[in-house]
Amino acid sequence: MQSLQGKKALITGGSRGIGRATAIELAKEGVELAIVGRSQENLDQVERELRDMGATVVTAQADVADEQAVSEAVKKIERELGTIDILVNNAGVAARGSFQELETADWEKVLNINIMGIVHITKAVLPGMIENNRGDIINISSMSGLKGTKGSSAYSASKFAVIGMSEGLMQEVRPHNIRVSVLTPSLVETDLTRGRDNHERDPEKFTQAEDLAEFMVSQLKLEQRTFVKTAALWATNPF
Ligand SMILES: NC(=O)c1ccc[n+]([C@@H]2O[C@H](COP(=O)([O-])OP(=O)(O)OC[C@H]3O[C@@H](n4cnc5c(N)ncnc54)[C@H](OP(=O)(O)O)[C@@H]3O)[C@@H](O)[C@H]2O)c1
Repeated sequence: MQSLQGKKALITGGSRGIGRATAIELAKEGVELAIVGRSQENLDQVERELRDMGATVVTAQADVADEQAVSEAVKKIERELGTIDILVNNAGVAARGSFQELETADWEKVLNINIMGIVHITKAVLPGMIENNRGDIINISSMSGLKGTKGSSAYSASKFAVIGMSEGLMQEVRPHNIRVSVLTPSLVETDLTRGRDNHERDPEKFTQAEDLAEFMVSQLKLEQRTFVKTAALWATNPF
């Protein structure tokens, strides 16, 4: 296993849920962090939490769907932190409603954030990784990227796209020692899913953000010669 000490990670949507848990787990490994999100208040809160742990952290407010804002955010991060070694493309939103109910604007929002968000950030970060001749990119898709369900056609479409995009990118950047991985978790207890079926879930029975974060840390620690191409974390016995 390799040490992550001193590496620099950029996490989109690192202010809440899976992204925040990943930032905390990476901070425990001595990783320096850059967090991108829309709400300054949430960014300030996670920055305080990470600083209290003794971590080096830079935050940048940006909507990942906005290419110009992303470009400026990545420039600020690279100025303050240096070249990014680990990119976690985690920011994402859901759009709930039947195909008939979803408006064109709902489709555009979810596709722009969940797909184009990854494109914008990755295009900005990749040149530094290629120059370093190494790097890690983890793209968070979903079980909905493998299987469509009623009421989530737009979300599923976006998450299927993440898998195809990740595979193509992975094949292109392997010669630069860049490992592109795509995760397809099942339900994780976060703001995105909390209260969806109007009852509290037993934390012992449902995958928690920390579980996924610990998984990501262990995959990043694998020797550079090997990598997790794709993985799904499921709850063992949620019934
Ligand atoms: N929870 C699950 O069951 C589950 C399962 C499979 C996959 N996933 C995927 O895992 C990822 C994280 O989900 P989560 O459950 O942790 O969600 P969450 O708790 O709602 O957190 C989402 C994070 O992304 C940020 N974000 C959202 N839209 C953004 C945008 N346009 N630009 C920049 N930042 C943005 C949010 O901050 P701001 O709102 O401040 O921008 C927040 O920090 C998503 O891609 C989701 O689709 C989740």
